[in-house]
Amino acid sequence: MRIYPTFFNIFFKGMDPEKAHHIGFWGVQTLRNVGITRALRKYFQPAPELATTVMGITFPSPFGLAAGFDKGGKGIAALAGIGFGHVEIGTITGQAQPGNPQPRLFRLVEDKAVINRMGFNNDGAAAAGPRVAAARADLETEYRGVVRPIIGVNIGKTKIVELENAIDDYLISTRTLAPQADYLVVNVSSPNTPGLRTLQAIESLRPLLAAVREEADRVCPNRHVPLTVKIAPDLVDEDVIEVAALAKELKLDGIIATNTTIAREGLGLTSDMTKVKEIGAGGLSGAPLKPRSLEVLRLLKREIGDDLAIISVGGVTTAEDVQERLDAGADLVQGYTAFLYEGPLWAAHINRGLVKLRRARR
Ligand code: FNR
Repeated sequence: MRIYPTFFNIFFKGMDPEKAHHIGFWGVQTLRNVGITRALRKYFQPAPELATTVMGITFPSPFGLAAGFDKGGKGIAALAGIGFGHVEIGTITGQAQPGNPQPRLFRLVEDKAVINRMGFNNDGAAAAGPRVAAARADLETEYRGVVRPIIGVNIGKTKIVELENAIDDYLISTRTLAPQADYLVVNVSSPNTPGLRTLQAIESLRPLLAAVREEADRVCPNRHVPLTVKIAPDLVDEDVIEVAALAKELKLDGIIATNTTIAREGLGLTSDMTKVKEIGAGGLSGAPLKPRSLEVLRLLKREIGDDLAIISVGGVTTAEDVQERLDAGADLVQGYTAFLYEGPLWAAHINRGLVKLRRARR
């Protein structure tokens, strides 16, 4: 019997989703603070055979936690401790900001999906920098002699900064966070910051990515900090192809696909559509995103081959889902929404499932 779904139904289902998130996050941190994850390290940590080198970095597992769960880098070691091979923190913006008014996170339980319009609530690059530095030092000590979990830092634009000044805002975060990050992500695909996704247009994206690359090299002269861009599932195929070509041209290290979708139709939702309409604006994530996320992955693989890494995210729940992405050409896979429904053993389950699938193929 799987215990967590029962626990979810009794404890979390009726609770405000954002409150449930804070309690869940606190729970994961407590597992670490009272020594449970360390005592059960053998259970939680990915088997050594799952280690994979991508963008010049060795990850303990191809599976990691997508951006948005740990917005400020407050629980990196705890999340790594339950089996995520990497934790992508953020989105972090140049300035601290409260995000959108609550409620701003909604569950579609029947669809194993959520809709969020959080709006990059975070305490800004300056506050996150020392936390990420400390977490990285902790991981280096704790995982000495084995492959340590990897920290990705996802950066975005502060809401009140005008779009024409977006580059400067991304550069504040780059300057502060590139020295701490194992890899950097330029997020131009959240639907919850007005105008942000227009930065995906090639004319805007080229100078932004070039400037971030240059700044990262300037502040980290002795280390190549891998740079990736995260795109929306709502881009039409031609735009995905253009971004792929640009990423190649600029010699980026990877593309992360995809963020949440603003679509509500054509996703095969079984939730009451009146309720979905009432929720209103926001990005939808979870199981209904799977087909488009997979489609974008296949398109990217066709366009970029092995030239740069592809990190696939969107609608992944099981080890089979993760393996399907890897088989379709993803170098790494991330997930977020299923974590809310599957609970704290999720990453460990996936890692174990991946080992089983691989052994069955041999
Ligand atoms: C997100 N996601 C997200 N992505 C990002 O780049 N920056 C962010 O701040 C956030 N915030 C965020 C909040 C919440 C509540 C959710 C559910 C999602 C998007 C996330 O990283 C991922 O790309 C999508 O959710 C698709 O993956 P899943 O959730 O279907 O596995």
